[in-house]
Amino acid sequence: MHMHLTILTGASRGLGAALAEQLLKSGQQLLTLSRHTADLWVVQGSDLEQWTVDLVDAAPVAARLEAWLTQQHPHQPATVTLINNAAALSDPAPLHDTDSANLARALRVGLEAPVLLSAAFLRATAHWQVPRRLLFISSGLGRRAMAGSASYCAVKAGMDHLARAIALEQAALPNPARVASLAPGVIDTDMQQQLRGADPARFPEQARFAALKTAGLLDSPADAAAKVLAFLARPDFGQNVTADVRDA
Ligand SMILES: NC(=O)c1ccc[n+]([C@@H]2O[C@H](COP(=O)([O-])OP(=O)(O)OC[C@H]3O[C@@H](n4cnc5c(N)ncnc54)[C@H](OP(=O)(O)O)[C@@H]3O)[C@@H](O)[C@H]2O)c1
Repeated sequence: MHMHLTILTGASRGLGAALAEQLLKSGQQLLTLSRHTADLWVVQGSDLEQWTVDLVDAAPVAARLEAWLTQQHPHQPATVTLINNAAALSDPAPLHDTDSANLARALRVGLEAPVLLSAAFLRATAHWQVPRRLLFISSGLGRRAMAGSASYCAVKAGMDHLARAIALEQAALPNPARVASLAPGVIDTDMQQQLRGADPARFPEQARFAALKTAGLLDSPADAAAKVLAFLARPDFGQNVTADVRDA
């Protein structure tokens, strides 16, 4: 039987853990890339491999992914998909008040890693005769700027534009990978906790994030993951390169 093969970054918690759980329930071959493993239930007919890797240093991980994909049988999976989900917020504060190491980490995990992993994925699967999909988990903040979150805004805007450029490149190829950058809504994860726990003197929108939680307006990771996977499964996936689950 041909399984769907998915490579997923940031699968140890939050949205990524919920995506991993739901992908495994639907009988997928899943490779996860995070610093920690997740406690995931592998149902019969699914297959899980977890790599504990730090995407701050993505180049060796991308090389390892390319070699791993090259060893997979190109006709074996029904489809092959890379989901770039991992991200790291720098401390919510003005750019001029954030230390360089913190900023560099957010940029490397959030943007450098997706660039390098996507390049490796596209190269290694270039001649596979199966549907290929590349999904970037973006954010509304890639499209609306927010004070106290400049590096995150830059990462997500960069990711959106990366997706647009890759889509143009792929359109000229025989078996083009379909590409989309998706804002997943507002989700009750550690990332939201970091935003509402921030110092309001350094992060002007702290009260708005606290109010979202109090008003019960956050999606659970499971609900958000179901929306992301429904978007990924759409027959027209890739038509709308920068999308938002709230409009889908
Ligand atoms: N939560 C929201 O409201 C919201 C809204 C819009 C967009 N998003 C986007 O949705 C995605 C998931 O967010 P989330 O809220 O689920 O975040 P989260 O709870 O903070 O989880 C982040 C994931 O990224 C991984 N990660 C972080 N640093 C890493 C590193 N150095 N190397 C490898 N993996 C690393 C973490 O795994 P380890 O710690 O094990 O490494 C974890 O699995 C992100 O792209 C985020 O920007 C979230």
